Amino acid sequence: MKSLLFFLIILVMFSCNKDKVGGNVPFPDVQCADSVSFSSDILPIIQDNCTGCHNNQNGYTLTNHQNISANYSAIVGSMKGNGFQLMPQGGPALPDSLIQKIQCWVNQGRKNN
Ligand code: HEC
Repeated sequence: MKSLLFFLIILVMFSCNKDKVGGNVPFPDVQCADSVSFSSDILPIIQDNCTGCHNNQNGYTLTNHQNISANYSAIVGSMKGNGFQLMPQGGPALPDSLIQKIQCWVNQGRKNN
């Protein structure tokens, strides 16, 4: 009985800890001072660097809030060459500051603002 209780306590501690680390913040290492706007910060980055090759072609359509939001993890992964081919195709990678803006937008709930 005692060991069951001990097990339950460990389980609760473990799940609380998991919440703290993951939670609703997909990129906990990124510091986001300002609030990011989809229309004035995020969409222009994608339009300037991605939409030309990803408007109904090459596997991804990145044209609006809905499809950009749905593909956020592939977008950030490919911008970092992490788990995906590096994008923009052929490089160079975008500046970290732009990638971080996208990560902040994701951390802030991928708002259509
Ligand atoms: C010059 C054209 C071009 C540009 C610009 C471009 N892509 Fe791509 N992208 C491609 C092509 C072509 C593929 C398919 C490559 C393949 O299947 O081998 C691709 C594949 C991808 C994939 C899937 C990669 C994988 O490993 O599964 C993602 C995600 C992606 N692009 C995101 C982006 C993002 C985000 C941007 C803007 C930062 C971007 N792309 C800019 C041409 C481009």
